[in-house]
Amino acid sequence: MTLEIQNQRIVTPFSLSIHSETGIPDNHDTLIERYLSKLADIYLDSEAAEAMVREKGDILTYQVFEKDIPEVNGELRFCSSIVYPGKVGDEYFMTKGHFHSRRDTAEIYYCIRGEGFMLMETEEGAYALEAFTPGRTVYVPGYYAHRSINTGTEPLVMLPIYPGDAGHDYGTIEHTGFKHLVVESDGKPTVIENPKYTN
Ligand code: PA5
Ligand code: NI
Repeated sequence: MTLEIQNQRIVTPFSLSIHSETGIPDNHDTLIERYLSKLADIYLDSEAAEAMVREKGDILTYQVFEKDIPEVNGELRFCSSIVYPGKVGDEYFMTKGHFHSRRDTAEIYYCIRGEGFMLMETEEGAYALEAFTPGRTVYVPGYYAHRSINTGTEPLVMLPIYPGDAGHDYGTIEHTGFKHLVVESDGKPTVIENPKYTN
């Protein structure tokens, strides 16, 4: 719902609850569901992803429950982002990852449940990895592409909050990939260089 104040259309006050186990909110407008069949290319071993889908059927790797908040300066958009546990080969299930279309816009991720990492990289080569554990908050500065990775055995539930006019630029990462990957090695999450990275 919106209302007009001083010639501005703004969102009316509301609240919602996010289930602490499932991450599913009691109220949302849009649900984005990402299936492995459509995401094989984001994994180093994309053929292993395709083989998994052939053998086991399609797999829901993450969901984003959104509220329709106007994508304008001044508003804050937020959602419940749930990455399910699993791996393609040694590489953990993860989001596509993106830059913000407005590069100078930051984002905060509050972790509600699960274990994982936020991988962050700039176009200039700066890189950071921050851990997600329940209650932990990750600050993603502007100019950093960001991808959340579930390294645990339960759903990784996060609450991202970002400026309304940030926008999502997926194309840049689709083209270059991330420079780093998080894979399981000796039973532990380990960062490696992405051999498929193109600058
Ligand atoms: O805006 C954000 O950073 C989040 O809401 C993400 O969109 C969400 O976590 C899903 O990731 P992606 O947009 O990379 O598919
Ligand atoms: Ni973002």
